[in-house]
Amino acid sequence: MRLTLMCAALCLASLAGCRGSTSSEPPVHLNPNMDSQDKYKAQGESAFFADKRTMREPPAGTVARGFEKSDDALYRGRQPNGEFVAVNPMPLDEGLMARGQARFDIYCRPCHGDDGAGTGLVPQRPGMVAIPTYHQDRIRNMADGELFSIITNGVRTMPSYRHQIPTEDRWAIVAYIRALQRAHNATAQDLPEGVSVPAPASAPTSAPASAPASAPASEGAQQEGQR
Ligand code: HEC
Repeated sequence: MRLTLMCAALCLASLAGCRGSTSSEPPVHLNPNMDSQDKYKAQGESAFFADKRTMREPPAGTVARGFEKSDDALYRGRQPNGEFVAVNPMPLDEGLMARGQARFDIYCRPCHGDDGAGTGLVPQRPGMVAIPTYHQDRIRNMADGELFSIITNGVRTMPSYRHQIPTEDRWAIVAYIRALQRAHNATAQDLPEGVSVPAPASAPTSAPASAPASAPASEGAQQEGQR
């Protein structure tokens, strides 16, 4: 018993002796957990390679998995002769169109407006450059590839969206812009069989300004509700 007590006292005393003392030795690391390991860090130096760089060039003629982008039509909107592709290379279906609408509403609508007429919220702020409408012949007559290129690379004062919007989504937006342009110039013949043309919304506004000022107020309220 006495021996045990003495031992305990000795141990305590030795522990207490450690407190407050400093050491230039690295701390004891009982469980290293691979904390220290030989490795290269990005941009680091290597004595192994002749050019001293740890970051290596991929071997000539190889492409990392998932980075093969040789399809010029899909990735650059260009034909082999360098001209823009006329037609969207993505198969056009309802899914692509819905995706295009959703992406357009997120990325383009704030500036270009919900119908592409250039009347989004952003250009309503003072100092913002004017946004062109999609419903002009110059843009209507652009090849699909040129629209894709505008989204990918930006154009003049419009920024590029290549980093925010993946390739396939950019093509989906192109398809949706085409739908907006088509819808903007739709005629009764564009409607599917059996669908009737709604009463022209422009009728009340095209009425001459001399229309009776006594028009019932409820008419305006009714129109508002219809919008
Ligand atoms: C921050 C505002 C802004 C956003 C967001 C934006 N644009 Fe634009 N866009 C502009 C401006 C400004 C111009 C006019 C550029 C110029 O002529 O200087 C423009 C022009 C265009 C043009 C016509 C280019 C031409 O040659 O006249 C197209 C097409 C277009 N944008 C498509 C898009 C699409 C598609 C998106 C969404 C992916 C988008 N924009 C998002 C501001 C924007």
